[in-house]
Amino acid sequence: MSKEITRKEFLTNTSKYAIGAVAGVAGLDILAGGKILAGTKNPTWPWPYQPLDPDTVRDRAHYLYYNGMACCAGVFGAILDSLKTVVGEPYTNLPSEIMYYGGGGGVGWGTLCGTLNGAAAIISLCVDKTNANKIINELWGWYCQAEFPSDTANDFAVQGKYTEKKYNDALPQNVSGSPLCHVSVTEWCITAQKKVGDIERKERCARLAGDVAAKTVEYLNALYAQQFTYTYVTPADIQQCLACHGPAVLNNVMTQLNCKTCHGDPHKPPAGVVLDNNNIPEDFLLSQNYPNPFNPSTKMQISVARPEKVSLIIYDVMGREVKRLINYDLMNAGKYTVDWDGTDNFGNKVASGIYFAKMTAGAFHMTKKMNLVK
Ligand code: HEC
Ligand code: HEC
Repeated sequence: MSKEITRKEFLTNTSKYAIGAVAGVAGLDILAGGKILAGTKNPTWPWPYQPLDPDTVRDRAHYLYYNGMACCAGVFGAILDSLKTVVGEPYTNLPSEIMYYGGGGGVGWGTLCGTLNGAAAIISLCVDKTNANKIINELWGWYCQAEFPSDTANDFAVQGKYTEKKYNDALPQNVSGSPLCHVSVTEWCITAQKKVGDIERKERCARLAGDVAAKTVEYLNALYAQQFTYTYVTPADIQQCLACHGPAVLNNVMTQLNCKTCHGDPHKPPAGVVLDNNNIPEDFLLSQNYPNPFNPSTKMQISVARPEKVSLIIYDVMGREVKRLINYDLMNAGKYTVDWDGTDNFGNKVASGIYFAKMTAGAFHMTKKMNLVK
């Protein structure tokens, strides 16, 4: 009972043939060869799911990785292929090639790991929005914290269980801490002492594809059986940063990525500066140096009332810069002790005389006079 119309006819009558409304009885399944076939059911989203076998998709994702699909379409295709077998329509009409672009973190850009991209797409096809977001969050969180390739993935290779046998030894494992392809691949290469082009790295990503495909199916099976439990929480060190930078206070950061991967700890006191205690002072302050007069070195205490860019610079009586002790560094609130060893910016001992220490922090500035007596 399929009715054929030409592409031209379709394009000139789009409203008449609006997708999903065709004849009210049939949807569009194929848009190809200049013809539109109105035939089988127009599936409503989300598409039906049936429990799948994690080991089957593991092997399939690993196989597809090497056979034209790479990581993203590999994971997507592995699960799709099982759905085609187990569920059939409407999955039979969907090409896994739609996910080609996700390989290498998105056409080689190293952004989101392709395995996660492919998994998220298939989850989004067969799970409602609220649950899909939860499962994807869980999957990405698991990916950041799990060791890859997993023991199971390595055992599969050692026991010769993969269809595609490119490399059969156990591979070194690591925790990437990031869903970014570039971070994940590079951290692994550093751990394994391999290059991106090495067969071990390719096999690592093939096994990773298997791990992610199998995990995705485990989650989907659990959700189907109404046994999915949500466990991922943002790690404490990231939450600590977001307590200020997230929506509650500064509202200038939107990410769950590990901040330290890119920023290190930008609030760490600069070299030579020691945090005395975490009690938050009421005001910014530069205290008088001690001892004073001094020879050859002296200390000063600074109070930082809130996170701010701080500078502490020593000048001579002519107003020339002698030593930059704190160089416009971002500092957390607290009281700190700073040492000056009586040298200039080049490490040379300075002469006896009067010096000025000037502290600035945002709009705050304060200067103290010091006396070096030799
Ligand atoms: C007590 C609140 C607080 C906490 C906790 C905190 N920050 Fe900040 N952070 C600030 C403030 C205030 C600034 C300065 C204003 C700004 O740039 O937004 C700042 C600035 C920054 C900047 C910009 C630096 C620059 O050079 O402009 C980065 C990056 C940053 N923080 C990262 C982090 C990271 C990573 C963490 C967790 C390790 C963290 N922050 C924890 C309050 C905080
Ligand atoms: C993938 C690398 C990456 C990660 C991970 C990352 N950042 Fe950033 N962040 C950047 C870059 C790049 C900038 C822009 C340049 C800059 O200011 O350093 C930036 C800017 C910032 C700024 C300045 C924002 C402004 O309005 O001036 C803050 C604050 C910041 N990041 C905090 C964080 C926190 C907190 C986290 C973790 C929750 C985090 N970042 C995770 C790369 C990253």
